[in-house]
Amino acid sequence: MLKMIATIEKHQQDFDSRIHSISTSEPLKQIRIDFLGKKGCIQALMKELRQATPEEKREQGKLINDFKQYVDNLLKVKEDELGKTAKQPASKNETFDTTLPGRRETTGTLHPITQVMEEIKTIFLGLGFQVEEGPEIETDYYNFEALNIPKDHPARDMQDTFYVEGDAVLRTHTSPVQIHVMENREPPLRIIAPGKVYRCDSDVSHTPMFHQIEGLMVEENLSFSHLKGIMNIFLQEVFGKKTKVRFRPSFFPFTCPSAEVDIQCVICSGSGCRVCSQTGWVEILGAGMVDPAVFNCVDYDAEKWTGFAFGLGIERISMLKYGINDIRLFFENDLRFLKQF
Ligand code: PHE
Repeated sequence: MLKMIATIEKHQQDFDSRIHSISTSEPLKQIRIDFLGKKGCIQALMKELRQATPEEKREQGKLINDFKQYVDNLLKVKEDELGKTAKQPASKNETFDTTLPGRRETTGTLHPITQVMEEIKTIFLGLGFQVEEGPEIETDYYNFEALNIPKDHPARDMQDTFYVEGDAVLRTHTSPVQIHVMENREPPLRIIAPGKVYRCDSDVSHTPMFHQIEGLMVEENLSFSHLKGIMNIFLQEVFGKKTKVRFRPSFFPFTCPSAEVDIQCVICSGSGCRVCSQTGWVEILGAGMVDPAVFNCVDYDAEKWTGFAFGLGIERISMLKYGINDIRLFFENDLRFLKQF
């Protein structure tokens, strides 16, 4: 019994001195093995106990168990301590620069098409026009018939129509909004109608969906010169005061006379380049005086009222304004492109 007590005391001294001189967790593992492991000294004490009498087993067993408890507790405390300090060096090395600027939330910007759309709207609002909207799915009547484009008219080929169902189509232009507005309102009126239009066409200068702005002005005694005046103001506002504008005779079934409007090429300033096919001019919009046949369709007195209409493509204007050579860039949603606007 005394021998056992002496052995335990010796083990405890040994344990105490080892555990107090410890600095990293590696030898701590070794201490655990030496004292609590299968071949450790406590296990050896237990083995010795097998030869003892039942009374000795009870007393000495308790001593061994107390020592085991003591070792286990101290080891846990030390392991905890060293675990924490083991992580400390890493955090001491981490530098924290309080002078660094904070991380910014990235904010989006309006799509270039939306920006140009808004700019054009603002110009026309300043000229007394109101904004109207119409449906993107139209009937054959509004997209064609009421605009003086009957079923077999060759002008239907001008627009590669997406047919939906029955006589429903995806509108190929914003001109049907003219009809909706005139059906519901009495002249005089000045409206613009921005929106999406659809044509079955796709290449560097065409996408199946694009944006137009329609304009319509109806009053008494309007003439082609009013149309020219408004177009001049508008185009110089968008492209700069020095922009030269020219009108070429053209044909649209719903206007007469009709014109295509060009501006002097913004890329080469008129000297001729690839964008303007060496002509010095680029086509920018279609326009004309409202055809009396259209007024008849909406029950306006064609003897009394006169009007002009125009339609322009937003993508085309944006491409010229920003020098973009492929229309598809607008719809690829590549942030490297979009962030430039
Ligand atoms: N709707 C025609 C087009 O899309 C443009 C236009 C509108 C022409 C109004 C004349 C008057 O091509």
